[in-house]
Amino acid sequence: MFHVVPNLSAAIKAVECGVDGLVVEGGEGGGFKNPRDVATMVLLPLVRSQVDVPIIAAGGFVDGKSMAAAFALGAEAVQMGTRMVSALESPVHENWKNAIVNAKETDTVFLNRMHSPALRALRTDKTTRLENSPEVNAMAEFGKAIDLYFGGDMESAIALTGQVCGRIDSVRSVRDILEDVRREFFETLEAMSNRYLG
Ligand SMILES: Cc1cc2nc3c(=O)[nH]c(=O)nc-3n(C[C@H](O)[C@H](O)[C@H](O)COP(=O)(O)O)c2cc1C
Repeated sequence: MFHVVPNLSAAIKAVECGVDGLVVEGGEGGGFKNPRDVATMVLLPLVRSQVDVPIIAAGGFVDGKSMAAAFALGAEAVQMGTRMVSALESPVHENWKNAIVNAKETDTVFLNRMHSPALRALRTDKTTRLENSPEVNAMAEFGKAIDLYFGGDMESAIALTGQVCGRIDSVRSVRDILEDVRREFFETLEAMSNRYLG
């Protein structure tokens, strides 16, 4: 069993409870979050330095370069959420996929910092309103997910999405995504080896 953790103390507690491995997820990722978010770049090497179990890195991964970075920081695998939500085979409505493709890296909001769980989601009129009303519990205003997921009404609910939306510029098949990730991962290792070890 792998447990998702947002900080070092949760990672150590999970390992002490006997998990087989960890999903170490930084606050830039899409979805439900710890209100005290920590970026993958800080969290992943920190957790790696304190635990011996296998780590799947999550939050910000989208291609072979970012996967190589995760491996350099101590992960054995990466998990891609936003990239797969926007993949061709993903069952969500094309409005959401197109919104991810068109989004800049600054087009997500971090909601519910004063409540729990916090969430990272795509910026829309609804989520901008919630961002500007930190006293409101966003979970109470979540809305009708089915109208968003399958009806494509981007204002009906909260479209959980990570900052890496800014690095996604087309809807692609899962096969193409994975083949490119794999190829670019090895190209990156080779290029770095040639540049710094050659
Ligand atoms: C639409 C959406 C739904 C998600 N649902 C879950 C979930 O139910 N459980 C979970 O552990 N993580 C969930 N996540 C988080 C992902 O599994 C993944 O760790 C995260 O998206 C990684 O960051 P990224 O978006 O930068 O790739 C979700 C993410 C998205 C975008």
